[in-house]
Amino acid sequence: MDVFSIEGPVRLSGEVEVKGAKNASLPIMAGAILAGGRSVLQGVPRLLDISVFSELLEQLGCKVERSDDGRLHIDSETVDNPVGEYEIVRRMRASICILGPLLGRCGKAKVSMPGGCAIGDRPVDIHLRGLRELGARIRLEGGYIVAEAPNGLAGAEIFLGGPFGSTVLGTANVLMAATLAKGTTVIESAACEPEIGDLANYLNKMGAKITGIGSPRLVIEGVKRLEPVEYEVIADRIEAGTFMSAAAMTAGELKLKRCRLGDMMAVVDKLRSIGVQVEASDGGCVVAREGPLNTADITTQPYPGFPTDLQAQFMALLSLAEGNSVVIEKVFPDRFMHVAELNRMAARLRKEGAVVIVAGVKRLIAAPVMASDLRASAALVLAALAAEGTTTVQRVYHIDRGYERIEERLNPVGAKITRLKD
Ligand code: EPZ
Repeated sequence: MDVFSIEGPVRLSGEVEVKGAKNASLPIMAGAILAGGRSVLQGVPRLLDISVFSELLEQLGCKVERSDDGRLHIDSETVDNPVGEYEIVRRMRASICILGPLLGRCGKAKVSMPGGCAIGDRPVDIHLRGLRELGARIRLEGGYIVAEAPNGLAGAEIFLGGPFGSTVLGTANVLMAATLAKGTTVIESAACEPEIGDLANYLNKMGAKITGIGSPRLVIEGVKRLEPVEYEVIADRIEAGTFMSAAAMTAGELKLKRCRLGDMMAVVDKLRSIGVQVEASDGGCVVAREGPLNTADITTQPYPGFPTDLQAQFMALLSLAEGNSVVIEKVFPDRFMHVAELNRMAARLRKEGAVVIVAGVKRLIAAPVMASDLRASAALVLAALAAEGTTTVQRVYHIDRGYERIEERLNPVGAKITRLKD
């Protein structure tokens, strides 16, 4: 298990390219199941989660390979084993998004129920409710979801809202299944995340008939078949937001290449209120901070609200602001594994239920810390860049799940991150 040794404080300065979006790539890879033949995906990042998902697709009968030019080739001519085994699903919850495409393509699927998660309770009841409304018969058996639609699926009007608002992968599952259903489906309270928009654009390129993309009301006219295509996934707004926070935390200046500011309005608005400059520049942006950090209140919400996947990184940032900030987590109320670790680095964070009071401090101090989940580990790396001394971050595999060789991208712009074998 790799460990990071990170020296601080540093000032980041230079250019970093933002990679393709993990959370668009995963459902888009699942979408390839819907068409028999060879799909070619560009811009899919080289991440642990992508490798695990490739393994999952191969288990279903697909062939997955990456060519020298970085494109991912998925041959889904054969999907003869519609089973998502526990051994793979337990390693990555997003595996659940094969359920809808398998039902659409094969009329049956058996997928392990995802287990527990460090960021909190993550049921899939809304996924199952939506697929049942499309006519699937679903039962739970030995920890597996067993779904059948021997006569195919049928279009329906479906309300997909839940206790915390829309569901991203729930929308992906129902959307993909509906593309091959008989008749028209309306999904109300659909997730509006740019990753869902990217998935819908990909499906339309395959021959699907989806309208209302980007809105909470998706209309899908079912078609008989879809064709494999070549497609480029969008840039990763969460990775971009992480690098923006890194520039802000180190009072640096970063030029982010391939960053879609239009997908990040809530994030950019918050950064500017904290005292960070964010300017668009030729297909990307420049992020810089000179003066002190202002305080801010953050409430996470489904898109277009402030993303929960940047909550930890902004908490680390606000820990250096002049005064008190309030962070409220409304999507995953228990998503605070980073709080105790940041306090080990002399931050002053007090958690009350789903709220954290961030009392700003003058400086952070290096300490040995432990990563617990993907975004929490990103926050620890950011804190270490600004902290005085050498921080060690254990369980780096968490960060490899969502950031492609982060040390190789940040060291050229001034970070001092060393990857060590534990
Ligand atoms: C996606 O997870 C992302 N993962 C998450 O990113 C992200 O945090 C989340 O959306 C919210 O933006 C991928 O895209 C692979 P949800 P997802 O269903 O779809 C509740 C990262 O760091 N809910 O939108 O699993 C749920 O418990 C990861 O990259 C139900 O109650 O999240 C949560 O409170 C972490 N029943 C809320 O809805 C359901 O059936 C939103 O979850 C489904 C969800």
